[in-house]
Amino acid sequence: MTKEYKRTLITTALPYANGPVHIGHLAGVYVPADIYARFLRLNDRPVTLVGGSDEHGVPITIRARREGITPQDVVDRYHKLIKDSFEELGISFDVYSRTTSEEHRRTATEFFQRLYDNNVFIKRTSKQPYDEGAHRFVTDRDIVGECPVCHAPGAYGDQCEKCGSSLNSTELINPHCAETGNVPVYKDTEHWYLPLDRYQEALEKWILEGHKEWKTNVYGQCKSWLDLGLQPRAVTRDLDWGIPVPVEGGEGKVLYVWFDAPIGYISNTKELLPDTWEKWWKDPETRIINFIGKDNIVFHCIVFPAMLMAYGDNFQLPDNVPANEFLNLEGDKISTSRNWAVWLHEYLSDFPGKQDVLRYVLTANAPETKDNDFTWADFQQRNNSELVAILGNFVNRAMVLTHKYFEGKVPAAGELTDVDREVYAEIEKTARVMTDNLENFHFRDALREAMNIARLGNKYLQETEPWKVAKTDMARVATILNTALQICGSIAVAFEPFTPFMSEHLCKMLNLKELKWNMLGSRDIVPAGTELGKPELLFEKIEDAAVEAQINKLKEARRQNAINSWKPAPQAKDVDFDTFMKADLRVGTVLECERVPKADKLLRFLIDDGLEKRTIVSGIAKFYDPAELVGKQLCFIANLPPRKLKGVVSQGMILSAEDRDGRLVVIAPSGPVAPGAQVK
Ligand code: 2FM
Ligand code: ZN
Repeated sequence: MTKEYKRTLITTALPYANGPVHIGHLAGVYVPADIYARFLRLNDRPVTLVGGSDEHGVPITIRARREGITPQDVVDRYHKLIKDSFEELGISFDVYSRTTSEEHRRTATEFFQRLYDNNVFIKRTSKQPYDEGAHRFVTDRDIVGECPVCHAPGAYGDQCEKCGSSLNSTELINPHCAETGNVPVYKDTEHWYLPLDRYQEALEKWILEGHKEWKTNVYGQCKSWLDLGLQPRAVTRDLDWGIPVPVEGGEGKVLYVWFDAPIGYISNTKELLPDTWEKWWKDPETRIINFIGKDNIVFHCIVFPAMLMAYGDNFQLPDNVPANEFLNLEGDKISTSRNWAVWLHEYLSDFPGKQDVLRYVLTANAPETKDNDFTWADFQQRNNSELVAILGNFVNRAMVLTHKYFEGKVPAAGELTDVDREVYAEIEKTARVMTDNLENFHFRDALREAMNIARLGNKYLQETEPWKVAKTDMARVATILNTALQICGSIAVAFEPFTPFMSEHLCKMLNLKELKWNMLGSRDIVPAGTELGKPELLFEKIEDAAVEAQINKLKEARRQNAINSWKPAPQAKDVDFDTFMKADLRVGTVLECERVPKADKLLRFLIDDGLEKRTIVSGIAKFYDPAELVGKQLCFIANLPPRKLKGVVSQGMILSAEDRDGRLVVIAPSGPVAPGAQVK
């Protein structure tokens, strides 16, 4: 940072209130924004952290129709869920409001009206897809059909997810509205457009010349948009859910969700600070930072700044937009529709009291420069071998030793030796590196440095061995434990932005009232004579069973997806009748059935086929208890050459049908027949 600002306004992308938030949202936006806000507060720098729910847009109306409720019901439900779960995770919003608030409606309406009055907009007529059955306009995204490029079925009207081609719904083969199945017609409609092209030069100057320090992913995306040349963008929609267009001809139309949502940052600040909000937006001494995910870059760096430029009145543009890349889950893209996600509210109920573990793991593995992967194995490993084994262990040792040798009262340090001085020097260095990292939004690196303080603490105790020194020199033990407790104090400070619950707990144990960033590395954080609290564990081990339960949840989601997306296989090529008749299909009665040792998929059957007893091995062990099949009749192919499976010779094959979820169900005659009867 080159300039000292008077205050910092931090905004976080407003999540859509049509579903809960997941770890991808947290890692990309909310955890980093909270770290930054907490860091500034520890430095006594004035900050306001603004959040809220984005409650307009088409997906909310679709969900409402699907559930037979109103869009307001949908957003009421998710706004509460999102707000409560953010609070429980310790995201320290100064305000968390919503775009259906009265203040927001007023602010967004006035914003549009002013741009309209100043003749900023251009009005254009275009043909838009219309669902005649449902009497409403739809968007290209709501239309599906066959991709004209790769011929995949189910391509969206704006893009084929199979081959990635950008499309127009008019190009689809057999287009129909995804929700109703109706074939769209195209009708003329008028909309207001923000002429982004008029702001091209100003935006180029502001970003390409003025903000070369932005993250390369952000700067790069802006540059490619600008290089392509900006085009006017419609800022109104034909929809009945949203903020009504307040001007003549606006009947039945609302503001486009991406026009009103960023104005939400302003309305939410107004709601929090009705008398002073303007200085947070219009004073050049205010620094605005937008935390967002990479899919929001164009709206925050191009569209909203153009809107603010058009509005004028000294509205400040963001000073930085540290957008993150995406977080994947167990190697796959997080997806709401496929339920491939770790939902915050579920995490909080499955892992009560473990908010910091999630915050820690998401920061340690944050997608700051590239997409990253969250895995439950990594979550467990980082908890058990970092939070428990390094941080928790060090603090516990320092606390327990002080209770043992000094009855829990912080001993006064005597003269420091080289090893003591070195440890302080190291922490001071760490503090400088951390400050630099935090100022520049390198939160992963900052967290790694913080953990190094705990590592240093363990090393210090290992080297100084107070438990041995206690036999000969209690004055030296006092100095060692005093130093160890100051390191604990530094840990409380350094970790506060990342794991605030742990810091608070540690402060209680150390009897620390207030933390300040400049205490980091100090030799007097916990003054001599302070009565310590009881030593308590800061983190506990996460057992395999807890992690397995989460993995099973994901497996179940995958199974459900397979079921939902299942379609019968296309019909195979014709075979001639004689070839078919060569297969000798018969009915047999199961005399014995048991699992094949060391083969978890296989069952060994002894079948009465009317002529003899034959052995057949079948890969259906996962789906049946062998006992339930004994005595049953089933169909098999009799004339396959014998085949050895896990040491057992199989004389034929049991016929079964594979269900949508991959379950195999044996084929049986619908009534009793003589063993050996042929299937024709
Ligand atoms: O992408 C999203 O989830 C949007 N709801 C973000 C909006 S950010 C802001 F502009 F409000
Ligand atoms: Zn395609």
